[in-house]
Formats: sequence, C-alpha cells, structure tokens
Amino acid sequence: MIGFLSEAYPWIRAFHVIAVIAWMAGLFYLPRLFVYHAENAPPGSDTDALFQTMELRLLRLIMNPAMIVTWVFGLCLVFTPGVIDWTAIWPWTKTAGVLAMTWFHHWLGRRRKDFARGQNTRPGRTYRLMNELPTVLLIIIVVSVIVRPG
Ligand code: HEM
Repeated sequence: MIGFLSEAYPWIRAFHVIAVIAWMAGLFYLPRLFVYHAENAPPGSDTDALFQTMELRLLRLIMNPAMIVTWVFGLCLVFTPGVIDWTAIWPWTKTAGVLAMTWFHHWLGRRRKDFARGQNTRPGRTYRLMNELPTVLLIIIVVSVIVRPG
C-alpha cells in the first residue's frame, strides 16, 4: 500500500486539488443561496420550494461527495512517506484550517435543514458575513501547504 501511495503521489495530489476546487465552489455558493432565500422567499412560497431544491442538490450531489474525496485523497497524501514533516508549522495550520472548513460545511448542512423545515431565523446579513469564512480559511490552507512559512 505504501509503495502504491508513493508511486501514485502526483495523481493523488492532482485529484486532491480537483476535489478541493469542487468543494470550495459549493462552500462559496451555498451561503449565497441562503442570503437570497432568507431575504426573498417566505416559507411555503414557490421561490422557497425552488431554493430548497437547489440547496439540497448542491449539498448532496456536489459538496458532500467533493468533501469526502478531498478527505480521502488528503489522508492518502498524509500517509505517503516523506510528504509531511510534523515538526514544521504548516501541517498544523493547514489541519486547523481544514477542520474549520469541515465544521463550516456541517454548519451549512444544519442551516439547509432549518430552511427545509421553514424554521430559518437568521437574516441575510448573517449568511453574507459567514460567506467570508471560506475565503479566509482558503488563504490560510493554501499559504500553509504551498508557501510553508516557519
Ligand atoms: C480535508 C482534509 C485535507 C487533508 C488531509 C489534506 C492533506 C494534504 C496533503 C498531505 C498534501 C500534500 C502536500 C505535499 O504534496 O507536499 C496536500 C496538498 C494540497 N492541499 Fe490538502 N488536505 C486537505 C484539505 C485541503 C483543502 C480544504 C484545501 C484547500 C482549500 C487543500 C489544498 C491543498 C493544495 C492546494 C495542495 C497542493 C499543494 C502542492 O501541490 O504544493 N487541501 N493536502
């Protein structure tokens, strides 16, 4: 297995980054849908039903699979000999960023259920603010893994 991970390293890294891009697309788009859903679609309206369909499909068909593939290929890279030096700082700052990104994914999942139950209490402004979080985390993660400061 270890031999395979070392041989397939460039492919695993490539598919890791491809999955990251798909996951990030959803992490940027879903909170945006929540902004318009909260501000323009009263519970029970046709627009409410349309937003619920868009949010459910984005989460189930794109974001969940992309997050799982990002984690699977990411962990394959973690277990590839020589890839991570845990005495450096970057693996820890990246890990913190990735755990926060995964928490945000699940926070969005819970908010989707609020809308589906007609129980969203958060204003559009909250979702606009939360929409900044994946950008900040993306910068921390990518600078950690590519620049490797410290
Ligand atoms: C979900 C759990 C994740 C794990 C376990 C993980 C782990 C890793 C590891 C071990 C590497 C290889 C570093 C190397 O080749 O030297 C890597 C590469 C990379 N990761 Fe992740 N990662 C995860 C999530 C993410 C996320 C969320 C992003 C961006 C938002 C990201 C962006 C990248 C990039 C851009 C590279 C390529 C760096 C390069 O080619 O130099 N990763 N990841």
